[in-house]
Amino acid sequence: MSFSIERYKEESKKLDTTGIDWDAVTEHPLSKGDLFCLHYMMDIENHVPLYLSHLLVTRACMDPILTAFLACWNYEELWHGENLGKLLNLYGIEFDTQDRIAKVRANLGFQNSVSILTTMAGSWLLKDFSAVYLTIGAINELTTLTGYGALIRKSGHPVLKDLLGRIIKDERRHFAFYYNSAKEWLADNPAAQRMDRWMLDRFWVPVGKGVKNQEEVDALAVYLFDDEQGEEELLDIDAKIGKLPGLAGIKLMSGALYEARERVRANPHWAWRLIDNEGWAVAAPRHSPVGQLTTRKAQAGGAGVGAFEGD
Ligand SMILES: [Fe+2]
Ligand SMILES: [Fe+2]
Repeated sequence: MSFSIERYKEESKKLDTTGIDWDAVTEHPLSKGDLFCLHYMMDIENHVPLYLSHLLVTRACMDPILTAFLACWNYEELWHGENLGKLLNLYGIEFDTQDRIAKVRANLGFQNSVSILTTMAGSWLLKDFSAVYLTIGAINELTTLTGYGALIRKSGHPVLKDLLGRIIKDERRHFAFYYNSAKEWLADNPAAQRMDRWMLDRFWVPVGKGVKNQEEVDALAVYLFDDEQGEEELLDIDAKIGKLPGLAGIKLMSGALYEARERVRANPHWAWRLIDNEGWAVAAPRHSPVGQLTTRKAQAGGAGVGAFEGD
């Protein structure tokens, strides 16, 4: 697995959806579990710009190769979220994408600012901060593409399969960048290896946690991975990450599944009740009304939010 930043810059583009049979979206059913996962995945894809805002305050961004990658990566991720939302809308689930994204962000509240500040401080205090960030990037991209593969398998929905198959190709390239960059940083650098491992063992959380709560993270894990093949795939993720210098034998994703299983064992309704009750709506924020945060107000008739056309 190799990665060339020059080639990536040349080839990076908006997800090509030419030929996707959007008209057939309603011809095949999606289960409540499929729909739960799609909302989760869409929200996390749409969260990338905020995740990026954390990175842009760290010294990882002194590296021009990294910033070139992030510029293209952020744009590609935008179209993943957009197209997952499009599929859900076509399936008949009504929501305004801009309104949903704004609500998700408003609900993060103060915690988001604290998180930016601690990331910033951590990066300037720790010389090898980039190693941690790059390793987490690799785990997140690999988990994401593995999750999309699992959802293709679970749903058996042909249009979703076509869409996710195309997104997976982007995620593979993202994984290659993060993985190779992490490997390069960690190679022959025992101090970075020690810190990377220490941080991952204590602070790593599955992709989406923070935006989503523990029960939502567990719902995704048990729906997609709580079978033989799913568990195998998570062990494969751990094995791949374990090949990075200093991370031999690390157990992150499989550990997250086992912990989710424990919580379901203790309370059989845990996680599954979210899926059964179609718990994918995003609550209106208690503080910070969305209109105030975005300076845009939804207009009567549905237009308005996000409508920049013709400006
Ligand atoms: Fe993505
Ligand atoms: Fe990605």
